[in-house]
Formats: sequence, structure tokens, C-alpha cells
Amino acid sequence: MKWIYPLLALSFSSPLWAADTTVAPTSAPEARSEQARDAFVTQLLSKMTLDEKIGQLRLISVGPDNPKQAIREMIRNGQVGAIFNTVTRPDIRAMQDQVMQLSRLKIPLFFAYDVVHGQRTIFPIPLGLAASWDPQAIKTVGRISAYEAADDGLNMTWAPMVDVSHEPRWGRMSEGFGEDTLLTAEMGKAMVESMQGKSPADRYSLMTSVKHFALYGAVEGGQEYNSVDMSPQRMFQEYLPPYKAALDAGSGGVMVALNSVNGVPATADSWLLKDVLRDQWKFKGITISDHGAIKELINHGVASDPRDAVRIAINAGIDMSMSDQYYSQYLPGLVKSGAVSMATIDEATRHVLNVKYDMGLFSNPYSHLGPAQDDPKDTNAESRLHRPQAREVAAETLVLLKNRLGVLPLKKQGTIALIGPLADSKQDIMGSWSAAGVAAQSVTVREGMTQALAGKATLLYAKGSNITDNPLVQKFLNSYGPEVSVDKQSPQQLLDQAVAMARKADVVVAAVGESQGMAHEASSRSDIRIPAAQRRLLTALKATGKPLIIVLMNGRPLDISEQSQQADAILETWFSGTEGGHAIADALFGDTNPSGKLPVSFPRSVGQIPAYYNHLPTGRPYNYLHPDKYTSHYYDAINGPLYPFGYGLSYTTFSVSPVSLSSDQMTQGGHLQASVTVTNTGKRAGATVVQMYLNDPVASLSRPVEELKGFQRISLQPGQSQQVSFKITEDELKFWNPQMKYLAEPGQFNVMIGLDSVRTEKTHFNYQ
Ligand code: BGC
Repeated sequence: MKWIYPLLALSFSSPLWAADTTVAPTSAPEARSEQARDAFVTQLLSKMTLDEKIGQLRLISVGPDNPKQAIREMIRNGQVGAIFNTVTRPDIRAMQDQVMQLSRLKIPLFFAYDVVHGQRTIFPIPLGLAASWDPQAIKTVGRISAYEAADDGLNMTWAPMVDVSHEPRWGRMSEGFGEDTLLTAEMGKAMVESMQGKSPADRYSLMTSVKHFALYGAVEGGQEYNSVDMSPQRMFQEYLPPYKAALDAGSGGVMVALNSVNGVPATADSWLLKDVLRDQWKFKGITISDHGAIKELINHGVASDPRDAVRIAINAGIDMSMSDQYYSQYLPGLVKSGAVSMATIDEATRHVLNVKYDMGLFSNPYSHLGPAQDDPKDTNAESRLHRPQAREVAAETLVLLKNRLGVLPLKKQGTIALIGPLADSKQDIMGSWSAAGVAAQSVTVREGMTQALAGKATLLYAKGSNITDNPLVQKFLNSYGPEVSVDKQSPQQLLDQAVAMARKADVVVAAVGESQGMAHEASSRSDIRIPAAQRRLLTALKATGKPLIIVLMNGRPLDISEQSQQADAILETWFSGTEGGHAIADALFGDTNPSGKLPVSFPRSVGQIPAYYNHLPTGRPYNYLHPDKYTSHYYDAINGPLYPFGYGLSYTTFSVSPVSLSSDQMTQGGHLQASVTVTNTGKRAGATVVQMYLNDPVASLSRPVEELKGFQRISLQPGQSQQVSFKITEDELKFWNPQMKYLAEPGQFNVMIGLDSVRTEKTHFNYQ
């Protein structure tokens, strides 16, 4: 990122607001060492009754189940530890006031929310952010999100989501960073570091809660909330490292997954929550069950009733229960009967108090609130947004999938027809989990293009189709409130208008794909094509013979096999956030140059799933140069993905030199450098991502055909060259062997470096 974030200096400074509390907290610890924290928490625990301890384990949200008056009573009685889904300072302050004024021990509440890709300013969805392959861009997003959320009074976010996924059918792929372990780990780590800053106690920092522990992204068939069955090798090699990376970066919280792993629901899995998380990884923060997950243990078939579910969850290591009353209801009796020990309650309570201490709440319960007179007059004021940063980050996330004969960038002249149900939708462009964002403040593609073309060219607009004409899908998407609209005009009328408009234009830009809710929690799809109504529209537009540019919006890889034939150019834009329309227009007209790379493979059809790049070799690999019947492939489809992992075009071109190694031998404990020279061989400046993959061709178990082990984003002027080097250490060679030992085995290693996972320069070295 070129610019220097102006809030950085502000964000890490000492408190800007004095505490607005008339009642002093239990005590005000100054030092923040782990020792001081332990001493403080031990002392506080010794003063707490069982009910007060159990109260700390309860996380609830204000709503119909918990109206404000009921919450006031719970707070007075010390029956609630934290609140989520309240996002304005006055509401938060009112509850903290109640704690400080009414409760016996005055243990501050913490306030949490799903700040996943922005708070008031909405940035691209995480899958889009991953397409930037730019940890600095992620840090911008994390810092601004934390700034805006802490400015709203929040202390914790349920993010980052680092569930590696090979499953485009799964709607929550939109919330994660794609199919690769290293990319996900790097993005998650950047998010934690930037959100938490030097300390989550700082005025403009948030504590993170990495989720969903663990393996949620591997739900069978991509079907939401489904089970996961996985070998320990794969778990530790591919799926667990991103959670670990987020914890190593200091994440104070862990949200536990809703799925089961090898038959044990994560919420009941003491191996996962204790052996791995606490004993192996030394995690000292809190574990939080996901929404309603404790009672779901009954549905999972491992608990007989709610009391049993509570017993299992707390004994497995769930500290805080989200959104149910079961801990308060059953823990007192369970402790009395001896089914849950006092030590277990103390341990869970300690974890909650630990994070409250780390959030600085015992020093100042109002540290993210300040005095009431400073509250923003308008929570959604324009001045609270960070638009330039949102536009700049969004630019980096756009992936140019196709550009036949350089049809893009478009010239700002003549007549352009912008068509499609997503072209002017302020809600959809924000993507999932953007609830504190205001749709009215987001810029649509239509608005972005209109501004870009003002006075230079004519922009025609038509909706062209509904998002979907399938009444069952419409009903599903609208089941929790209006989400997709159905136009008063018939599908044929919409289509006819669009075609008539296309005929008048020099070029057609079609903004199509998924609505916001189609790529979200509980949005699994068995068909990952663009909905039929929009496919029909594209076919009609293609038939006009006008150049067709597709602007895709979606939260998962789609099967665009048909559209990749029809379109002259395809720009993958994900859901690009508040400034999405500007960023997309900038790219379409060449004011910026697309540089995003796919963080996930695009399959040719749903039948090809899973289609991830780092798969294991088979005994009968398919060779497209010498196809043979008895090899591993689908005989009715072209082998391999439509667009591979790491792929993305630019308006310029790049060349990559052969790989040179600092040595062709690496000894134990040693390292070497692999380098290439990348040259901008085109006519304009551009950025690209240089990717290094390794392969261990002979090992004690099959190793992936290639694995991403390093990446660097570089910008080059026309004609400019840059050497890019990657350090290879034993860490890059290690894997979990059949006996679950993490080691590097001697032998040959292949090194592949390129600008995507397919077209690479190759060499090898020997490790002994
Ligand atoms: C989701 C979590 C989310 C929580 C709170 C759950 O349904 O699975 O990711 O953080 O709700 O909103």
C-alpha cells in the first residue's frame, strides 16, 4: 500500500478519553504482565460466589429473548459476563453503567460483534481480501475495522475466520481466506496483529476471536453444519495451522466450531479444546461456543438433555456459552452433584477474567466509550468512514480472469450499457457479515461508472433480470427479511429492455452473480452456477454481438464454464464493499490495473469439487498429453480447474526467469535461497504476486503435488525487472509423518516459482 495510514499514530497512543466512571472497579491494576494478571484474577476469583462465576461464563445478546429490563436484572445479579450484537456507545455505556452501579463486584462486561471485514466502512469480503495476497492491505482493513469498532465501544470481534475450505458449495467460504493453508494463515495473522495492535486494551484496538475451531470449512459435501471426518495428518498439516498462526499472533479468543470432527462435536471435544489448544498450544484466552452450540449437542447425539449438554461442554473446555441460558440454569446443580468440579468453573472463569484484564477493562471499564458528551451525534456519519482506504484495498482484490484481445480497459467514450441485477444494488455489494455497514453509503457499479464517465461518455442502465426467478430460492433467501426483490415487470420485459439497450451501446458490461445472502452462513448450494435468470440474460446479451464484459459478484468460486466462453472479459470482484463501485469502475477504465490472484480454484462444474490445487498424487495420474482411460479423471469433463489457484491477469504482461538456487544442496538445519527475476514486459505499470511452491516427490507418505510456501507481491514499471528471492528452511520441508512426527525427510525437493500455481519455472535441490 502506498499511503501511510493516518490513524496509526492515534490508535496506539495512551487513552484519549478519561474514564467516565463514578464507581471505581474492583481494583485498578496498572501493570499488564502475565504475573500481575494472574495475581489480580486469583484475588478476584477468591471473592466470587459460584453464581457470580457462572454469570461470567454467559454471553448474551439484547433482543426479544433478552429485553433490556431483563438484562438489567441479570447484570444486577452478576448473571452475565459479556454482551454481543450491541453496537452503539450509548447502549453499551448504559449496560456498563449498570454493572458499575448495581452489581456487587463491578466486574465490567465486554462487548463483542462480528467485525469481519469492516465496521462502518465495509471492505471486500475476506475471500476477496485474500485475493490481494497482500498482508499490508489486510492490516489496513484490520486496523480501520478495529478503530471504527472500538470507537463504537466494542472490545472484541468474532474474527478472523480462518477455516480453510475446499468446498465452494459451502456459503461461508466467503468469510474465509480460501483453500490454502499458508495464505489463510498469513491473512489471519495480519488481521489479528492489526486489530489487536500493541494491546487489545488500547483505545482503538479490539481483541480478536479466531474461528471456527476447528475444521468448519471441511464440512462434508459443503453442506452447512455437517460433520467432518479427517486424518490427523491432514488436520495438522492443512487445516489447523491458520488457527495456530492467529493464536501465535496473540488472539485472545477462540470461537468453537458447530461441526463434529471424527464423530465428536467440537463443542464436546476435550482433545481439541484441552490437549491441542491448551496443552500443546499453551492458549490462555477464552473459548466461546458458537451460537446455541451447547444445546445442539443433543441433536448431535452426544448429550441426552440440556443438563447433560452443559456438563459435556464445560468439561470439554467451553468457557463461555453464547446465546443460551443453560450454563446459568444447570451449572449450579451440576457443581453441587459433583458432575462438574469447582476447579473446572474456576478455570473457565479465570479465562474470562484474563481476557477482561487484557482488554484493560479492570483499569477502565469505559476505555472504549469515553464521556457521553463525546458520543458521535450520528453513528453513521460520513466523517466516520474511511472511503479512500476502502477503495484502494478493493482495487487490490479484483481478479481479471479473461481479457480477450485486450478489450479491457474500456475507453471513456461512446455508449456503454451497464446491465444486470447487481449493477445498482447497494446492499449486495457489501457482502455477508456487514451488519453495521449502511447500504445507502455503499457505491454501486452504476454509481462508480457514472462518476467515472461524467461528461465523457453515455452510460445506459437496465436491470435485465431478477437475481433469480426460482420461487423456492427467492422464498429461502427472503425467509429472514427482504433480501432479493422480484421486479414488477415480467422476466421477458426485463430481458427485452436490456437487449434493446445493449443494441444501442458500443460495449456491454454485465454485473451478475450472487446476492449477498447467497454466500453466507446457512447458504450452501448444490449448483454453483450463476442463477438461471442471469444466465439467460447473458446469453441474450451475447447474441447482440456486442463486446461483453462480465463483472462477477460472488462469495465463492462459481462454475462459469459457459460464461467464460461467452464473455470477452471477466472481472471477478467478489463483494467489494462500501467503495466497491468506484474500485470496479477504476479497474474497468484502466485508472487502476487489476492485480488480484485467485485464493481458490474455480472448478469447471460442481461435479469436479473438490478441485483444490494442493491435492495428493494418485497412482494413475492423468496426463493430458497422453490421455489414457485407466487414469484418475472425470471422462466427461476437461481435467483440472477452469481457473487455477493463484491465477489472475493484468493489463500488462510479466515474464519470469528460470529459478536459480543459492545451492543445490541443503543440510539439516541449513537453508537456501530460491530466486527468479520478474520483468514487466508490457506497456503499463502493474503489480503481480510471485508464488513459490514446493513438492517432496518421495516421502514416507504421499505429499501434495505442490504446496504454496512463499509469496511476494511486487509492482513494476514497464520494462522494469526485479529479483524476487524466497528463503527455504527446514520448516518449509516439514510434514506430519505416518507416526505423527513433524519432520523433514532427506531427499530431493522440487521448487516451482511462477505467477500462478500452474505456469511455473521449476528446479530442484537435495536435502540431507
Ligand atoms: C456464527 C458465528 C458468529 C455468531 C455470532 C453464528 O451463527 O456461526 O460465526 O460469530 O453467529 O454472530
